[in-house]
Amino acid sequence: TYNKIKSEKVLKMGTSADFAPFEFPVIQNGHKKYVGYDIMVANKIAQSMGVKLKVENMEFSSLIGELQNKKVDIVMAGMTETKQRKKAVDFSKPYYQESETLLVKKADADKYNKIADTKGAQ
Ligand code: ARG
Repeated sequence: TYNKIKSEKVLKMGTSADFAPFEFPVIQNGHKKYVGYDIMVANKIAQSMGVKLKVENMEFSSLIGELQNKKVDIVMAGMTETKQRKKAVDFSKPYYQESETLLVKKADADKYNKIADTKGAQ
């Protein structure tokens, strides 16, 4: 794959552009293009390899399959590493971390401690 990217001078990124601010479509001069944080990072990777980035938009659920059958070279889609996915593909080190939280009224803060302390399901 690496040699093919270098010889064709194109890095194909698979994504599902329905996940702003990571990847989403914009219309520019009547043309649809894809932008967002993942696209920016992928562009940097392509640039560092001296090749062009080509974004292939597809269903989120088909990304791993299309990587496996080499339709795309990399996938960037705000995809979280899971045990299941790791059986199929190789994940990079995380380049973005999030920690969303649950909110309750201040007055109720102590009532939810038991539940809120539960470690994430993943
Ligand atoms: N992080 C979640 C996951 O990996 C959601 C990602 C959704 N991404 C997208 N491009 N629609 O399942």
